[in-house]
Amino acid sequence: MNPTRRMAPLLAPSLLAADFGNLQSETERLADSAADWLHFDVMDGRFVPNISFGIPVLQAVHRHARQPIDVHLMIEEPQHYLSAFRDAGAANITVHYEACPHLHRVIQQIKQLGCRAGVALNPHTPVSLLEDVAADLDLVLIMSVNPGFGGQAFIPNTLRKVTQLKELLVDSGSSALIEIDGGVTLDNAAALVAAGADALVAGSFVFQGGDPVGTLARMRAELAPPALESAS
Ligand code: DX5
Ligand code: ZN
Repeated sequence: MNPTRRMAPLLAPSLLAADFGNLQSETERLADSAADWLHFDVMDGRFVPNISFGIPVLQAVHRHARQPIDVHLMIEEPQHYLSAFRDAGAANITVHYEACPHLHRVIQQIKQLGCRAGVALNPHTPVSLLEDVAADLDLVLIMSVNPGFGGQAFIPNTLRKVTQLKELLVDSGSSALIEIDGGVTLDNAAALVAAGADALVAGSFVFQGGDPVGTLARMRAELAPPALESAS
């Protein structure tokens, strides 16, 4: 068996679950938390049946954020908005496979803008469809709920997809990170990491209890890789 390097996952709280009336303080209180990225969910009411927030809100959040902003575009024709999102502060830009008939071109455009390029897969989309772009990607986001809403239940088949994707990335020589989004809690996080997840998005789980900083610290502690065994 191949020894796999187990790393602590990147944690990306989703601002979709934050208090929109206080986005400045919500962003600022995450500054010294265990969050590695801030996940920013953009919904257009067409690709998904919900509307969230867009470019001016990203700009405002970016002014107060310390962490890189992980922009998840759940929108049709994302190619028209890439540079606007980059200018507004996106570090990572993830588009949906299902929204991009010319996915290869969109990935190159995101990279040319100097952002990490990600592709998201809906729960029904097989990971094998990424075979021919895997080597170009910085990030693959596996949706573990149907996109559009926070607070939904985790789809267990995601674990199988993570394992398959990990294999595909290794075979393609891709160093893309695997990010999981939707219904992530401490009940499924460790299994996701064991299957190969590198980054975990969590909205409701982080914000629901009213103590996002404490919850992120708990996630960080519980998902830390086991200490190295001493040689003696
Ligand atoms: C769903 C969004 C998710 C959402 C996750 O369409 O892409 O990022 O904020 O929220 P929870 O963790 O509540 O499922
Ligand atoms: Zn998301």
